[in-house]
Amino acid sequence: MGGESVVSNPEFLREGCAVYDTFNPDRIVLGSNSQRAIAMMRELYAPIISREMAEDKSLPTVPVVVTDLSSAEMVKYASNAFLATKISFINEIANICDRVGADVTQVAKGIGLDSRIGSKFLQAGIGWGGSCFPKDVSALIHTADDYGYEAQLLKAAVTVNHRQRLIALEKLQQVLKILKGKTVGLLGLTFKPDTDDMRDAPALDLIEQLHRLGTKIKAFDPLVSQSGMRHGLSNVIVETDAERLADGCDALVLVTDWKQFRSLDYAKMAKLMNNPVMIDGRNFLDQEMLEAAGFRYVGIGRCS
Ligand SMILES: NC(=O)c1ccc[n+]([C@@H]2O[C@H](COP(=O)([O-])OP(=O)(O)OC[C@H]3O[C@@H](n4cnc5c(N)ncnc54)[C@H](O)[C@@H]3O)[C@@H](O)[C@H]2O)c1
Repeated sequence: MGGESVVSNPEFLREGCAVYDTFNPDRIVLGSNSQRAIAMMRELYAPIISREMAEDKSLPTVPVVVTDLSSAEMVKYASNAFLATKISFINEIANICDRVGADVTQVAKGIGLDSRIGSKFLQAGIGWGGSCFPKDVSALIHTADDYGYEAQLLKAAVTVNHRQRLIALEKLQQVLKILKGKTVGLLGLTFKPDTDDMRDAPALDLIEQLHRLGTKIKAFDPLVSQSGMRHGLSNVIVETDAERLADGCDALVLVTDWKQFRSLDYAKMAKLMNNPVMIDGRNFLDQEMLEAAGFRYVGIGRCS
């Protein structure tokens, strides 16, 4: 025996639920050319594989995929690239829905019930961000490039995502016409809820463009404060609650789908605004409730 072995064991943990994802995995991927190393990894993972540590202990044991080193690494990149592409796909469909008068939330429901497609990651909005999707999709594009292959589909997923980040700006211009001198409030700043992570957040692109057009920008995020003053937020007044945010705004944009944004006092917020407009960048809020509270509601791909 003797000698060292290498195992590639990709993790698929989401920020904000890493502990849950560790104990409740969909699969475990082990890449190595050493049978001994694979056996040791199986032993290490035994309580997780048997679901001993899972929330639902009645589930079948966790599938273990044993591969060579390169394939294990490719599983990781391909998983993230697929999910990012799935989001860009539904965002592309949303933009077509907007033009032909369809509602992407109904379309997503209709296609998601097809078990070959699945309903997850089909929520149209202002695009994906964070540290994992952008990094892994570009790494895969560059690796392909290094080996003489142009990953056209992945490049398109990135292009669609960049364009999608400015969809809220397009909607603001349709409603408010001139943005110079107007005040826009951003509900949420982080790339997704339950994290304070602003890395590659769609909000940053939106802020840059609103600032370029002379718009006054305010924001409220449950985990991002003015004192934090992160890179890219120097042109933003960060408020401490949603009502202060609404005060004096010509429109609000829901940027992050924080759960607590579903139960704000929208009637009170509408009264504090110059012009109660809500651009729902995640199709997250209840349109009827917002309209009853006095808002003009504009979703993504919902022909509003
Ligand atoms: N590369 C790494 O270093 C690394 C580290 C940890 C995890 N990961 C992997 O990266 C993946 C992404 O993790 P994450 O923490 O960025 O978060 P995540 O998977 O929760 O979200 C990623 C992006 O998808 C969007 N999204 C989430 N649900 C959606 C839906 N239903 N419809 C449309 N868009 C949706 C989010 O807004 C976000 O922009 C993990 O699943 C994991 O496999 C990678």
